[in-house]
Amino acid sequence: MGTTLDEELQQPASFFHSQLSFAAPSRVFGAFSEGELVAAAGIRWPTNHASGKHKTILYGVQTAPAFRRQSLGRRLVRQAVDHAFSSGCLRIYLYVYVPNPGAVSLYESLGFVSSGAEPEELNIDGHYYDLQYMSLRNPAPLGAGDRGGG
Ligand SMILES: CC(C)(COP(=O)(O)OP(=O)(O)OC[C@H]1O[C@@H](n2cnc3c(N)ncnc32)[C@H](O)[C@@H]1OP(=O)(O)O)[C@@H](O)C(=O)NCCC(=O)NCCS
Repeated sequence: MGTTLDEELQQPASFFHSQLSFAAPSRVFGAFSEGELVAAAGIRWPTNHASGKHKTILYGVQTAPAFRRQSLGRRLVRQAVDHAFSSGCLRIYLYVYVPNPGAVSLYESLGFVSSGAEPEELNIDGHYYDLQYMSLRNPAPLGAGDRGGG
């Protein structure tokens, strides 16, 4: 996700709190097993400016290793997508460091399409990773206020 495990372990709790605290309608969806968070997917509006209110970012998608391939990722991303679109979002963006065939396949299965790449965007322990952008457009017909300037 762009940081090493060591870097993550050094982050204060407030860092993780801030990742979960974007103003509504931004929201984080979670799946729990015996009270433990085992999967998550977040959706956030990156700006309040009128020019950018139509877009959201899907972030923080992950499933604990022991709970993978049980459809939790797909269910949570679908919930995040439904929430974004029912809240008026026109297009959802995400980025994924590749290769990550599992994540790309998950997103493609929900209709996300690749919209470009940033070569060698990340260097973790001497390995370079490309960043792949993907997005998904709200399939609902546009309302009068949804396009242009508003
Ligand atoms: C990617 C990730 C979130 C998938 O979570 P998950 O709960 O296992 O996903 P699901 O069980 O809902 O799988 C949905 C679909 O994604 C695809 N998929 C998931 N994991 C896959 C894998 N390892 N290889 C290939 N396809 C995979 C499949 O198409 C799968 O559908 P299927 O099981 O019907 O074949 C999980 O592997 C993960 O946490 N990875 C590490 C963190 C990460 O890379 N997050 C994405 C950051 S952008």
